[in-house]
Amino acid sequence: MESELNCYAARIEAYLQKCFTDDAPQKELFEAMRYSLLAGGKRLRPVLTQAFCELCGGNAEEALPFGAAIEMVHTYSLIHDDLPCMDNDDYRRGKPTNHRVYGEATAVLAGDALLTAAFSQLARAKLPAERVVEAVRVLSLCAGELGMVGGQVLDMDAEKRECTEHEVYDIQSRKTGALISAACQLGVIAAGGNETQQRAASAYADSLGLAFQIEDDILDVVGDAQKLGKAVGVDDKKNTFVRLYGVEKCREMINAETEKAVSALSVFEKPQFLTELAYSLVSREC
Ligand code: IPE
Ligand code: IPE
Ligand code: MG
Ligand code: MG
Ligand code: MG
Repeated sequence: MESELNCYAARIEAYLQKCFTDDAPQKELFEAMRYSLLAGGKRLRPVLTQAFCELCGGNAEEALPFGAAIEMVHTYSLIHDDLPCMDNDDYRRGKPTNHRVYGEATAVLAGDALLTAAFSQLARAKLPAERVVEAVRVLSLCAGELGMVGGQVLDMDAEKRECTEHEVYDIQSRKTGALISAACQLGVIAAGGNETQQRAASAYADSLGLAFQIEDDILDVVGDAQKLGKAVGVDDKKNTFVRLYGVEKCREMINAETEKAVSALSVFEKPQFLTELAYSLVSREC
């Protein structure tokens, strides 16, 4: 699993390294975009895109523009998430946050440009046009007002009050789950996978995304800022899963969701990598 993971991660890393290198007067914008994009995230989402593409018989190399698009949307969401008007964080991916280095205006615009560039990436994929259009549909749905952005709005609003269990799940499924779902779905789409495979990928993503955000909430309490590359203990005003259930129950929930994710893979012939990936995230430290 480890070597496959490194291979997928290295491939997307090399692809992203080549982005936004143009020599243009607005070079500070390019620099700000690359600063956050190449700051060394785990690349979980583009790894999922490549793995699902291969699982459905596609060529992972051909799914790279789709994977890059997801990582660009994800990176923009982090830049904006860290802004003073949102979570007001100073560290991300082991470095000062974008706005701390480039100022708020450039950070907002670097996020805007990454979001726009993501759709340009989709359009550039050397895949049949109907797969590209489907990828645009899925990514815009998952990233937009019903997905990640919608979840971020609800997450901010929830700081002012106590949330119900249902609300905390709903926020999670939008702010974090939706992009993880897009990552898995785009892999199937790149390969021209069928509806059964699409449904299985979505089910895997829903459980993995939930486990992932519960772990993110736990790490805010028990994690190591150095390893995480971001500050810990900053969620005190947030309606997190830990606040709702406590760390111990949260760990049980992560195990249960991981089992659910793994069982969703039963329709595939060779689910080993994605199975082991799901289990490896249970004990992640970053
Ligand atoms: C952090 O995502 C934000 C959440 C959705 C919890 P990641 O933990 O995947 O961050 P990077 O990409 O590795 O920096
Ligand atoms: C992140 O949620 C969801 C995003 C869309 C960025 P968090 O606010 O919990 O993410 P971290 O903890 O800052 O990475
Ligand atoms: Mg946030
Ligand atoms: Mg945050
Ligand atoms: Mg968090």
